[in-house]
Amino acid sequence: MFNRPDEEIIQIELEEITKLTDAIFTKYGYDFSNYAISSFKRRILMVLKKYGLKSVDKLIQKILFEPAFFEQFVLDITVNTTEMFRDPTFYKALKHQVVPVLATKPEFNVWHAACSTGEEVISLAILLDQEGILNKAKIYATDINHVVLQKAASAAFPVRNLDFYHENYAKTEFPGQLSDYYTIENGTMQFDKRLIQNVKFKHHDLARDVHFYKFDLILCRNVMIYFNQELQNRVFELLHNSLFMNGFLCLGAKESLIWCKIADKFETVNSHEKIFRKIKA
Ligand SMILES: C[S@@+](CC[C@H](N)C(=O)[O-])C[C@H]1O[C@@H](n2cnc3c(N)ncnc32)[C@H](O)[C@@H]1O
Repeated sequence: MFNRPDEEIIQIELEEITKLTDAIFTKYGYDFSNYAISSFKRRILMVLKKYGLKSVDKLIQKILFEPAFFEQFVLDITVNTTEMFRDPTFYKALKHQVVPVLATKPEFNVWHAACSTGEEVISLAILLDQEGILNKAKIYATDINHVVLQKAASAAFPVRNLDFYHENYAKTEFPGQLSDYYTIENGTMQFDKRLIQNVKFKHHDLARDVHFYKFDLILCRNVMIYFNQELQNRVFELLHNSLFMNGFLCLGAKESLIWCKIADKFETVNSHEKIFRKIKA
């Protein structure tokens, strides 16, 4: 078995990871202790390399004494990859299996948990707008990372992704063009701010914070894969508590809740698109 090149330079012991996560928790209250160990370790190695740090101890010192560096560290350590209409068939399923239920309500609440830079928020808002129910929605979009939240609140995305987002949109088979919703401004696709007028962007740490509201629909996609089983179970409990009875929970393509402790409190709406519904308190 060959080591990756970065692992040849520095080996990280489990105790060092624990020392690091303890230091972060004590100083900043962020709890990374239950992140899936292999990917977390890979990200730490990447951070050491990026800043030319020779040991985890050096990283701890920098984190403890440089709060601005810590903000950047959170950005480096978390994976923020996202896209508009990610998994286009998921949005089709939302349109046909979830939106008709939401449409029957006088108003409804949506939570984008771990929303990153907001591409998912705008994607859903476009769908709700097309179905004529955006104005009935109260939407919360949250993330652990302040930097991505600030970007999300601007509703502007780099034009380099334009073709790709247009392709995703075409695959949803939704009407019109994606370009109906944005203008090009300063090298960005600036989406119509009307789409986020009912959205509150808020800091929320799934590993630590409690539930803050009740929702009819929660999208918590592509973040659980970075958590270990214990933390996933805790987060599923938080999401369950945050849903109204018969509320919908949507996970990422590689995620599931069928093995988790409270799996029997949900029914599967669409197993391929990872859409579930709360059926027991
Ligand atoms: C890969 S992105 C997923 C974005 C979007 N939901 C999607 O599916 O395209 C994962 C996001 O989870 C956020 N995140 C990581 N740990 C978190 C935590 N403990 N609480 C809230 N958000 C977290 C990261 O900052 C990042 O923006």
